[in-house]
Amino acid sequence: MSSSLATVAYIGATILFILSLGGLSNQTTALRGNLYGMVGMTLAVLATVFGPQVTAAGLPWIIGAMVIGGGIGLYAARTVQMTQMPELVALMHSMVGLAAMLVGFATYIDPTASAGFEGAAKTIHELEIYIGIFIGAVTFAGSVIAFGKLSGRVSGNPVLLPGRHWLNLAGLLVVIYFGGVFMQAHDVQSGMLPVIVMTIVALLFGVHMVMAIGGADMPVVVSMLNSYSGWAAAATGFMLSNDLLIVVGALVGSSGAILSYIMCNAMNRSFISVIAGGFGTTSAPKPAAGGAAQPVGEVTPVTALETAELLREAKSVIIVPGYGMAVAQAQHTVFEITKFLREKGVNVRFGIHPVAGRMPGHMNVLLAEAKVPYDIVFEMDELNEDFPDTDVTMVIGANDIVNPSAQDDPSSPIAGMPVLEVWKAKTSIVMKRSMASGYAGVDNPLFYKDNNRMLFGDAKKMLDEVLTALRA
Ligand code: TAP
Repeated sequence: MSSSLATVAYIGATILFILSLGGLSNQTTALRGNLYGMVGMTLAVLATVFGPQVTAAGLPWIIGAMVIGGGIGLYAARTVQMTQMPELVALMHSMVGLAAMLVGFATYIDPTASAGFEGAAKTIHELEIYIGIFIGAVTFAGSVIAFGKLSGRVSGNPVLLPGRHWLNLAGLLVVIYFGGVFMQAHDVQSGMLPVIVMTIVALLFGVHMVMAIGGADMPVVVSMLNSYSGWAAAATGFMLSNDLLIVVGALVGSSGAILSYIMCNAMNRSFISVIAGGFGTTSAPKPAAGGAAQPVGEVTPVTALETAELLREAKSVIIVPGYGMAVAQAQHTVFEITKFLREKGVNVRFGIHPVAGRMPGHMNVLLAEAKVPYDIVFEMDELNEDFPDTDVTMVIGANDIVNPSAQDDPSSPIAGMPVLEVWKAKTSIVMKRSMASGYAGVDNPLFYKDNNRMLFGDAKKMLDEVLTALRA
């Protein structure tokens, strides 16, 4: 393929990627957005593999790697459970970081990759390598820890080393110092030591940054690492002089940064403290000994039959799904109940919290899979004021996102996080298996409110019983 044809293909792919991002911003166009992305990526891969930068000798290597990598990807995508998606995404981010790191080292070692760079161009080229490896290493290590935390292999509790901000600052100074040594190195041998030291510091920094983040703040970390992986890809593009990779990396990097900003707003966290890392460990005073913030009172359990009765008498119902709905795979039964109630004239709507589940858009994906109509699915802000006029709220496997202590208890680790005010409805019904806390590990006073009922059991099993009772 001639270089001008490859350039045309790259421009086409860039346009398709932009259209893809535009499509993904809305549920009704998301499918089209995905298609644009797939066509764009196919075009990009073909134009690169058969483009002017690849020699005939390199082709078997590339195709072999693509077959192995594609096979692993296909297997992972087919076998992954919906509840494991967030950890899979974190693992994929780590791959982008690892690739950036390895490309950086390969570019530095390969004499042909640096040939032709003189003076200022050589300085810029080396700077690209140094920064690329740095971003790649931070993304790789941070994503591996995020994978561990999301899959429960690493504790979700924040690990706070004494003087952690000073440690980070010291690490940064070391990276800058060795950057200077690296830039002054006359050959690859003498440049290797500084770049290896920097890589080790960057890996430690990535581990430290994510280890210091507490459970409830993980959503921001996930989207932040998404952004980092974009910048790592852009850095790889600079190292390989590949314009498309730079553009795509920048698109992913900036959309991830915007998502992080939205997540921060949703959780009432400061963006700057997120970027600095080690945030979200709450500076608020701990509850007094004896636990002033512990919820008190008795819970009122209900049966599936009583739940069906409450739903049958309701005129308006708001359903709030959470992580437990994903675990139980209850979305299809939820849809059947919704259909039944709507046919009886009940106004049924869904309230989606921005950090419900374990990844951005988690609940939307599940509801779309179950074919719940988009026009009854609302964001938190769109219907939080409607709860006082609602007869029944059904909380399905959600906990932190409906926790009133976020509003009432300044000592709570989730204090200040906006929540869905389900307790303001006439009756709220919480479906979960036990009194256990959610991801943030915080007790929930909602369970003890007078107008709250607890329907204990697996969400899918209990909803099946509710549906049977409704139809009876
Ligand atoms: P959680 O607060 O984690 O609560 C989920 C609840 O579901 C649990 O209390 C659990 O209680 C229940 N559950 C689990 N399996 C169930 C089953 N089979 N049937 C019925 N219930 C079941 O979830 P949430 O309300 O969706 O809030 C999300 C939390 O995750 C937030 O703290 C958020 O910060 C964090 N997080 C979010 C993301 C993103 S990007 N969305 C990423 C990482 C972390 P039982 O054990 O008693 O059943």
